[in-house]
Amino acid sequence: MNALANKHILLGVTGGIAAYKAPELVRRLRDAGADVRVVLTDAAAAFVTPLTLQAVSGRPVHQALLSAEAESGMGHIELARWADLILIAPATADFMARLAHGFADDLLAACCRASRAPLAIAPAMNAGMWENAATQRNLRQLVDDAVRVFGPASGSQACGEVGEGRMLEPLELVALCAAQFGAGALAGRRVVVSAGPTFEDIDPVRFIGNRSSGRMGYAIAQAAREAGAEVTLVTGPVALADPSGVAVQRVRSALQMRDAVLSAVATADVYVGTAAVADYRPAAPAGRKIKKDRDALSVELIRNPDILSEVAALQRRPFTVGFAAETDDVLAYARRKLDDKRLDLIAANTVGAGLGFETDDNALTLLWPGGQRELARASKAALARALIAEIAERLHARG
Ligand code: CTP
Repeated sequence: MNALANKHILLGVTGGIAAYKAPELVRRLRDAGADVRVVLTDAAAAFVTPLTLQAVSGRPVHQALLSAEAESGMGHIELARWADLILIAPATADFMARLAHGFADDLLAACCRASRAPLAIAPAMNAGMWENAATQRNLRQLVDDAVRVFGPASGSQACGEVGEGRMLEPLELVALCAAQFGAGALAGRRVVVSAGPTFEDIDPVRFIGNRSSGRMGYAIAQAAREAGAEVTLVTGPVALADPSGVAVQRVRSALQMRDAVLSAVATADVYVGTAAVADYRPAAPAGRKIKKDRDALSVELIRNPDILSEVAALQRRPFTVGFAAETDDVLAYARRKLDDKRLDLIAANTVGAGLGFETDDNALTLLWPGGQRELARASKAALARALIAEIAERLHARG
């Protein structure tokens, strides 16, 4: 059962460039079963038209506060009572200031004042405005007043800067709205995530490893937890703090990871394999440190088991999600992996040139049998939330 089914969401759109995402947000909220009414500030109407929002919401758009016509239809008090949740997305620095100081001088501010429904904001602004002392002071006031704050994310901004202040993506906002109604999108589900590299020992002091930082997997474990799942994270050696509320199992080699994953997925609903598992390991690790007494040294490598394929081949298999990190022909290789490993979903990304491993940002293409979807370059935390939202939707659809 979708947590947003038949919920009344009052979406307030204020005047920032991220308002261009509002129509998509309305569609996504409606896809999740919500009934959406939009209140537009005058400044927002300069970025997105009432007609567009009316078309996507299937409802008249509300703009004026002191208008006899508007108040005789659905006035600010009725709107405030109608809402189960008020979401302001995007929320500008100016609107945050007005909200923090209790203004009620336009329809949206008046609705926020009059409603007893939970209020959430998705801030969106230039990084400098976000960091500004007054904005941060208003933010603390809003948090004190029990306003939920969704985001912002960091990344490249419309103004050309890179930093904190991007509005969260529509799917992430939908997931966070759903979580407000008690049940997160993955409430009651068990999720297992693998992360990081594996280290394959050559001798007691040397190993073969790779450049995976584990950040993507840790972000996914955190996002699954936020969505209400019970999460087990099986991680190779990384230098990251444990995500809160997640059971963490530390392993070193591919064989250890395989054992930990196979026992954890026995009762899981979802497996997300983000680990960069070494495909090969030394056939016979030396018991003692190898001395440099030869001109050349060869180490024989043998294949490791493919953990993801083994999970997908289980008789009682979880919803199985893989990652494909490629340097070229990304989508073709990813689709082949999706088919060969019989996955439910694969997240493909390009590695190298500042993307993928050891970076904060990433961009993903999600592929499933019969479809695909782009997740534009964003922080790994933002991508993780969007991926979890997509997994939850597909899981619900499967029943
Ligand atoms: N994977 C795994 N076990 C392995 C190797 C990979 O579970 N021994 C999983 C990874 O966690 C990832 C996916 O398989 O979700 C794809 O990993 P990748 O290294 O991109 O592909 P491979 O299957 O190893 O194929 P290749 O290296 O030939 O590209």
